[in-house]
Amino acid sequence: VKLSRQTAARSGTNDKVNQAYPIRAIEPAEFPAFYEVGYQAFNSGWPPEVGRELELLTFEFDRSAAAFDGEQIVGSACAYTFQLSVPGGVAAAGGISAVSVLPTRRRRGIMSGLIRHVLTDIGSRGEAIAILWASEPGIYGRFGFGCASEHLRYTIRRGEGALLPAVFTDKKAAPEISIGEPGRQLAAMAAVYASVAAARPGLPARDDRWWQAAVADPEVYREGASPLRCLIAADGDGPRGYALYSSRGKWDDGVPVGEVRVHELQATDQQAGAALWTDLLTRDLIGETHAWARPVDDPLREMLVDRRRARAQLADGLWVRLVDVPAALSQRRYAREVDVVIEVTDTVIPANAGRYRLQARAGGAATCAPTTAAAAVTATVQALGAGYLGGMRLGTLAAAGQVAEERPGALLELSAAMSWDPAPWCPFVF
Ligand SMILES: CC(C)(COP(=O)(O)OP(=O)(O)OC[C@H]1O[C@@H](n2cnc3c(N)ncnc32)[C@H](O)[C@@H]1OP(=O)(O)O)[C@@H](O)C(=O)NCCC(=O)NCCS
Repeated sequence: VKLSRQTAARSGTNDKVNQAYPIRAIEPAEFPAFYEVGYQAFNSGWPPEVGRELELLTFEFDRSAAAFDGEQIVGSACAYTFQLSVPGGVAAAGGISAVSVLPTRRRRGIMSGLIRHVLTDIGSRGEAIAILWASEPGIYGRFGFGCASEHLRYTIRRGEGALLPAVFTDKKAAPEISIGEPGRQLAAMAAVYASVAAARPGLPARDDRWWQAAVADPEVYREGASPLRCLIAADGDGPRGYALYSSRGKWDDGVPVGEVRVHELQATDQQAGAALWTDLLTRDLIGETHAWARPVDDPLREMLVDRRRARAQLADGLWVRLVDVPAALSQRRYAREVDVVIEVTDTVIPANAGRYRLQARAGGAATCAPTTAAAAVTATVQALGAGYLGGMRLGTLAAAGQVAEERPGALLELSAAMSWDPAPWCPFVF
């Protein structure tokens, strides 16, 4: 109760809800009851002990938040300690997950209390950014999260995955492709992933626990597909790419219509990417290859003879919330020189609201500090979160009414400075 009152006092609202459903971190013995809330809320069907074991690989008890109705846990949330790649660098971020409320206790403000509680905790740990994947996009804007990355899903049918010959290729020789057991390829995958993350915003660094989670493959999650397999592209100097995939044999009137499911594919160079895709897109007995969560600027589409045949579908990926606006804005780099005063509105974390002067040289360290100078751009904290990783253009957000230009030219200046190449991408759900 003490904790929840503090939270209510800090957030300034929700006092009644937080007193009715106090929030605190759980002890290990309470984990099954905590897990049960999400198990019910997400309509999960697999045996709960399988999901619990998986969750515990990465769970941080001191970052959990459970809402209680008397003795019973009726709401859950947690956060992970992440190092997130951001434009030109890395920033500490709290990755929010397990947000659930028991179906019988919904729409009483319990989730709102939990999110405010977790955001306060993230801020008190000195993390300037909160990130999450949303089960539904309508939930998190009200808490100041903006959709900062998107991804593509492909369905590539038999015969439609031919690649163009590359015009310029790396001077290195084409890599060897081999099939490995994921659990034995962790070091190779980690090296490739770290190299990709160094250049592309949106990837949370994975430590051993997160690699164990990445290759965890309970049979009940496979839906009839093979165990997870790992394709490695390597040469004498080491690994250059990998793909985690599974496959499923299927026959329709004697015709082979199997499926390949690409869970994750990462490559450090053009040849390695092309070699991995060529292997996966030309497998025998396969009717369709499905790839989930590909970057919006995936080189694959530019390599396909017929890019339309990827049948790409766009979905929202990582949602970003700036918990400490000036700290977050100074922790990334900018593509162009920028000197703009931004007026920020934030109703959930009022300490963020105010005017800040953002200054940076192209690619150099940035400063962002409170100022009394006139605003050049006004933005909601959601809009700044959406633009933070460099993929969502501020001009679009201005056209959507979330950003306003107060000095002619300032919007374009800020938008061009915040944009980043390559596009942000988070390749896994946490
Ligand atoms: C989503 C969920 C956590 C909401 O919990 P809740 O305690 O009912 O939420 P609150 O009462 O705090 O709702 C706060 C506001 O969000 C809105 N909201 C809640 N769920 C929403 C949804 N799925 N889509 C859009 N808006 C939603 C509420 O209507 C309310 O709006 P208001 O302030 O204008 O009245 C709960 O319904 C749930 O567990 N759903 C299934 C699991 C899930 O999707 N979790 C999210 C994981 S990313």
